[in-house]
Amino acid sequence: MSEINSPAKNIEFTFNGELISAVSGQTVGAAILESGKRSLRKTRFENKPRGMFCGIGICFDCLVSINGVANQRACLVQVLPNMNVQTQIGSKL
Ligand code: FES
Repeated sequence: MSEINSPAKNIEFTFNGELISAVSGQTVGAAILESGKRSLRKTRFENKPRGMFCGIGICFDCLVSINGVANQRACLVQVLPNMNVQTQIGSKL
């Protein structure tokens, strides 16, 4: 998509301490994906990276911790200013 046609990014939040810019109404998962990152969580037993798979709330591969609350599906939660999003390992932080 052309930069000219892209809406202005007006929200900032952090993902693992790194500042991410997003458009109002964008999901956390979409904003992280757009920033170039692909891994949102790690598997419980082998610590393997997982990212967005279905993008519609079914697979649970996008689980993250948001403001200290674990098990949030990044593909469903809309970004809000100053959110603190962190990678989740298994079902815990
Ligand atoms: S990507 Fe499948 S539930 Fe979020």
